[in-house]
This record gives sequence, structure tokens and C-alpha cells, in this order.
Amino acid sequence: MPVLETAFHAPLDKLQMTSASPAKDLLAWYDRHRRDLPWRAHAGTRQDPYRVWLSEIMLQQTTVATVRERYLAFLERWPDIHSLAGAPLETVLAEWAGLGYYARARNLHACAVAVATQYDGALPATPDALSALPGIGAYTSGAIAAIAFDFPIVPVDGNVERVAARYFNIDTPLPAARAAIATAAQGFLDPARPGDVAQALMDLGATVCRPRQPDCLVCPLRDGCAARKAGRQEELPVKVAKKPRPERRGRVYCIFSREGDVLLRRRPPKGLLGGMSELPGSAWDEGAMPKFEAPLDARWQQLPGSVRHVFTHFGLELTVHRAHMQRINPPEGWWWQPLSRIGEAGLPTVMVKALDHARKVYS
Ligand code: ADE
Repeated sequence: MPVLETAFHAPLDKLQMTSASPAKDLLAWYDRHRRDLPWRAHAGTRQDPYRVWLSEIMLQQTTVATVRERYLAFLERWPDIHSLAGAPLETVLAEWAGLGYYARARNLHACAVAVATQYDGALPATPDALSALPGIGAYTSGAIAAIAFDFPIVPVDGNVERVAARYFNIDTPLPAARAAIATAAQGFLDPARPGDVAQALMDLGATVCRPRQPDCLVCPLRDGCAARKAGRQEELPVKVAKKPRPERRGRVYCIFSREGDVLLRRRPPKGLLGGMSELPGSAWDEGAMPKFEAPLDARWQQLPGSVRHVFTHFGLELTVHRAHMQRINPPEGWWWQPLSRIGEAGLPTVMVKALDHARKVYS
């Protein structure tokens, strides 16, 4: 019978296996050194799948330090999937403000609704069923299945990719090597403790097998690490050079009322920052700064300097304009937000920067 070369059936005989059981050493290390993180179950117990799912979505693209600060507040507001499914999307987006990658919040809400209606509120337990839900890709489905249900899979994110590329000395450049590394990483699996293996690899990648200056002397996998044997650990994984980020430009218009409000509007539901609140402004395009086009009649002031923000796929330079006016009836879909309650508007970080710039006093 042919051997299936899937993530679940790694052709272990083809890998440069230099240690009989990396999982044993890895788990012994994890039992002593595991990080104490608010979304983690106590040793030997399993975590509520809702909490595992929420933490994994938050941890996509966001650091552990930032998620630590935000996870418990989210959980307090929506302690289970039914409460989240019943919340208005705007409130979820506002709670997500500052975390970036807002499609995650839209998908989180859509996923809660799907799980509440299709699965009676219980997340499914397999990577296949999980990855059919909104916002759950290959890595996240594996992470939830392994951590919440001990499904036998090693989920592979950037950290685990680095550990595996080094341990198995895989020097094909990324992204081409991604599938091979994911298959090789299944060699870390211990079918008795898949969730702990997943979290042990995350901890090892974050604290020991770091991108630069890995701490090989304290690594539980050092004896079996093929890259270390070859003295190549710092070179791996090999990555092809990235293209430079394009630059876009735009204008934002801060309109303050004499009563201490600022005029906001909501972005279209789809696309970048979809559904988030924002200051009115121009489109953001590559090339020259777009022309000034006042959204309302007022005495406009162009502020000195500009605001810069970096998105994944482009850098953005914003010229900020401001005006003060009576609190007129706002255009359809716009509203006056009291500055004393600006936190409740859930402005994304780029808009917080622009508003801060507009609130400075210029001499
Ligand atoms: N990164 C992604 N998922 C994680 C988790 N569960 N614990 C720590 N870091 C992570």
C-alpha cells in the first residue's frame, strides 16, 4: 500500500530523524518550563474549547504580550460562544480595536453564530470540521483540535516551522518548503499528549529556539537537532527575500464640534478595516497625495507633519486636516462621538494616531 504523505501520516522514515523520541524530551522540558498563560489549562487538564479558539484567533498576528492584556477582558464580556453569537458585530469590532487584522473579529463573530446554530454551541473536534468554519485556517484548526481535544496533529505556525526546519535541517527556502516542514513537524507528535506537544513547541520557539541567537545550550532537543549538528541553526529556516512594501497616501478630516465631539463614520463592511469606525477621509492610493476635498463647509486647517502607519501590505502616510464647527446634523451614516467617550468608538490604531495628531496644539 502506498504511504500517504499527509500532515497526519508523515513519512517518518524519510526524515533525518536523529533522536528516537523528540516528544519525550520536549514534554519533560514543557512539564518544568511551560509558560503560565491565561488561556492555558492547568497541567493535566483540558481547556474549554471556546477559550482555546478565542486565544488562537487573538494570537494570529498578535503577540502573546498584547493578547495577555486583552484576552481576559474579552472573555469577561462574552464568557461563552452563545453570548458572543448574540452580540452585535459592532460591539465585537469595538472590543477588538487596537488588535489589528479586523477580519479576525468579523470572522470570530460569524464563527460563533455558525457554531451556535450548526453545533448547538460546541466547537467540533477535528481539524477538517474546524477549518470549514469562518476564520479558522490550517494552522488554527490544528491548534484548536490538538489543544482542546488532543486530536493527534502537530499544528505548524511560524515558531514551530522554525523549530522543525532546524531540528530536521530543512534548507529549502520558504515559502516553497512549507509543506515539507509541516510534514516533518509531525515527527514531534506524541499521540498521548498532542495538546501539550503543540504548546511545548510554541514555548520552545518563543523562548529557546528563537529566530536569532537560539539558546541551544538549554534546548531539550539539542542532541537530536540536525541543524545544530551541522552548525547551521542560525541560518534556518531560509526565506526568500521579500518585496519592499508599497507606499500609499491619503488625507483625513477631523471635524470637532464646539461641544467636544468629533465626527466619525463607519467603513464599508468588507475589505481593509471593514466595519470599523473612522475619521472621514480620502481613498488611500499609491502615488501622489490625493487632492484636498473638504467633506463639509468649514474653515479648514492643514496640520504640519503627517501620520504614518504600516499595514501588512503597504505603508500609509496621512495628511491631517482639522476644522471646528457647530454640531450640525451629520450626513447619513456619520455621527458625533464625544471625545470624553472616544474609547467606546473602537477606532483602529491608524485612526487613533490621526486623531491624536489633530488634537495636538500647534503654535
Ligand atoms: N501562539 C499561538 N498559539 C499559542 C498558544 N496557544 N500559546 C502560546 N503562544 C501561541
